[in-house]
Amino acid sequence: MCRIPFMTKIFLPKITELAPKASPFELCLRKNYVQQKAWAEVDKTDCFRIYDKEVPEYPLAIDYYAGRFCVQYFARGRGDEKPALELEQKVVRMICKIFGCRPDRIYWRTRARSKETRQYEKMDQSGDFFTVYEGGVKFTVNLRDYLDTGLFLDHRTTRKMVASCSKAKRLLNLFAYTCSFSVQAAVLGSTFTKSVDMSNTYTLWGEDNFLLNNLSLKNNPVIRADCLKFLGEEIRSGCKYDVIVIDPPTISRSTKMDQLFDIQQDYVFLITSALKLLNKGGCIFFSTNSQKFVFDSTLFSNCLIKEISDQTIPPDFHDPKIHRCWKIEHY
Ligand SMILES: C[S@@+](CC[C@H](N)C(=O)[O-])C[C@H]1O[C@@H](n2cnc3c(N)ncnc32)[C@H](O)[C@@H]1O
Repeated sequence: MCRIPFMTKIFLPKITELAPKASPFELCLRKNYVQQKAWAEVDKTDCFRIYDKEVPEYPLAIDYYAGRFCVQYFARGRGDEKPALELEQKVVRMICKIFGCRPDRIYWRTRARSKETRQYEKMDQSGDFFTVYEGGVKFTVNLRDYLDTGLFLDHRTTRKMVASCSKAKRLLNLFAYTCSFSVQAAVLGSTFTKSVDMSNTYTLWGEDNFLLNNLSLKNNPVIRADCLKFLGEEIRSGCKYDVIVIDPPTISRSTKMDQLFDIQQDYVFLITSALKLLNKGGCIFFSTNSQKFVFDSTLFSNCLIKEISDQTIPPDFHDPKIHRCWKIEHY
């Protein structure tokens, strides 16, 4: 049963009139926003990307989150971790001009080149959480305090795909972060979801996301555990699932784990173990942000494996390698 309230309405602002002599950056922002607004209003979504590094002098990604703007600066090399003040001022002025918003609605993030090793640490303590909608489903985000916002927008299409495969089915969400895959699936009719992440902060955040959508935690438990250990225990318990999402970090060095997690080394164990938890006819969605990752499908028997990356990149994302994704069907 779908639980999106019939009357859910989202608000997307109108932009100001275009004046003559607009720069390529301004034209691009305006064009993108108008394009995204058209589908987002119908889809009941108020968070999406409005700029994706299109103009070389502006090496940025800008995401719109319900009236606020999250600007990521992509460093070009060492010593260039922060945007130049001039660039920052130009961008703030432009966003305020187009959207008629206040400068304090704009949040800056810098991303070092080697995101392969980045960890999920805390950056601030503002506690500035607010709600956004994706496909009529509510999520809590925070643009200030953490390395990531609480909702990875590049997986919007994947979440829809997973949710549509999970209707009236059981879903296991591994490396769940704030449980966005399982919350979306539960709202759209999954009968049971289980979400696993080793972070205390993110499991609590995930629980809040279920409660925000009036979903019971009894049918949607969120477990704080190391997924590598959890898998063995879950196999012994005899639990089975119809759909399993595996979206691990590239590398994880948390002190809560006994050993370093490395996707290239550990994916075989993850997928082999997940296959033991899968009902016949079930499927696994496996995703990674690692650009160097190599998937060897010959290592898994009795499976139909298809790379579905190009079907999972949303229209507002222009980098075809933002993530990669495989669907693994068990027969
Ligand atoms: C890439 S994020 C997952 C994103 C999530 N699938 C989503 O789309 O919202 C990786 C998550 O894995 C968690 N994590 C890292 N190593 C882990 C481990 N060994 N066991 C469980 N969770 C882990 C981190 O806390 C983080 O929340």
